[in-house]
Amino acid sequence: MLIKTADYTGSYVEVAKCPEGELPEFAFIGRSNVGKSSLINYLTGRKKLVKVSVTPGKTQTINYFLINGNLRLVDLPGYGFAKVSKENRARWRKMIENYLLGRKQLLYVFLLIDARIPPQAIDLEFINWLGQKSIPVVVVFTKADKPGARDISVNVQHFKQKLLENWAQLPPMFITSSEKNVGREELIGF
Ligand code: GTP
Ligand code: MG
Repeated sequence: MLIKTADYTGSYVEVAKCPEGELPEFAFIGRSNVGKSSLINYLTGRKKLVKVSVTPGKTQTINYFLINGNLRLVDLPGYGFAKVSKENRARWRKMIENYLLGRKQLLYVFLLIDARIPPQAIDLEFINWLGQKSIPVVVVFTKADKPGARDISVNVQHFKQKLLENWAQLPPMFITSSEKNVGREELIGF
């Protein structure tokens, strides 16, 4: 797929206000600072389409990008940022749950996982929740700047093992680095 156009079309805090119509959409979610916005920039080949965080927790709305006029990418706010207040965390949860459970245009959730660290409980809890709700998920390992490095393959392997404690079959998985140009073709192809 050739990305000819990629345009920001709006930000929302309520699923009811998200764009109408039938265009399929793909949402990006994961821990705060995992590289969601960077990945969207990388995939679309637009360096400044999405703001990349200097401080974690930057993305707080549901942000829409229209690709080639025929599909949408959705940048969701990250979870697990320690400095977020209890009220904001509850608000996040409600907003994301409403979006993930209620958005009929949603085809796939791309769950981003930092490839540089061992499996984190918060990520496993989240992907297991997606599984319980039968929300189609693709795992995208990020920040694999040296994709062949031993720690990366160990972390990926451990993540798979953890998943297999609950999942009969593993979801599709991709290894990427927005910084070092890893995995774009594979993910776009998917
Ligand atoms: P929030 O919107 O705050 O949840 O963050 P985010 O998940 O959108 O992450 P963002 O893309 O803003 O990136 C967070 C930090 O990770 C930035 O400092 C990026 O430069 C860095 N980063 C993103 N992708 C990569 C990568 O492939 N490799 C490395 N080494 N750093 C990356
Ligand atoms: Mg972001």
